[in-house]
Amino acid sequence: MSEARVVLGVAGASGAALGLSVARQLSDMQVEIDLVTSTAAERTLDAECGAQALATLHGLVTRCHAIDDIGASIASGSVPVAGMIVAPCSMRSLAAIAHGLDDNLLTRAASVQLKERRRLILLTREAPLTLAHLRNMTAATELGAVILPPVPAFYLKPQNVADIVDQIAARAIDMLNVAAPVAQRWRATG
Ligand SMILES: Cc1cc2nc3c(=O)[nH]c(=O)nc-3n(C[C@H](O)[C@H](O)[C@H](O)COP(=O)(O)O)c2cc1C
Repeated sequence: MSEARVVLGVAGASGAALGLSVARQLSDMQVEIDLVTSTAAERTLDAECGAQALATLHGLVTRCHAIDDIGASIASGSVPVAGMIVAPCSMRSLAAIAHGLDDNLLTRAASVQLKERRRLILLTREAPLTLAHLRNMTAATELGAVILPPVPAFYLKPQNVADIVDQIAARAIDMLNVAAPVAQRWRATG
């Protein structure tokens, strides 16, 4: 097991496969994963990735925390983690993070990253975006979070949805600087 420990939040936006891909890749890198899934995420995982998806996700991580367990280790800044990825991040969770609500373990753990000045990567997913969504992304950025919308890297010519998902998840992981970069890069000709 590597020294690194990362919090993975999965909120109830479309793109549940992103959470699975982040967990798979971090697990392959021997990184410890603390998982917290929202109630809505359990529904999107089931709807988009199948009835076994939540169990698969649980099998990839080191610790599973209940969304209402606000006394869990990751609710405290004294527990050393490298940072947190929320993949995908719903507009509701984004709003709660942007306004410091700390209203469940996912948003509390996100706040902890911000107060401890650690990396917080939000794979915010919605389309189109309202002014409220845009303002909340601005507010989260001002607080120190990184907004990384799950948009495809078209320049890499992905062959299928799994390629797109894995590349986006890899970019998020690379932003945590817990291991050597894993995302594919643009190969410039000049
Ligand atoms: C199948 C499905 C897809 C959804 N897709 C999105 C989405 O892409 N973005 C979003 O912000 N909310 C989406 N929602 C709505 C959220 O799940 C809902 O706002 C929920 O309250 C979010 O709660 P959470 O932030 O605690 O996960 C979706 C819901 C379902 C059931």
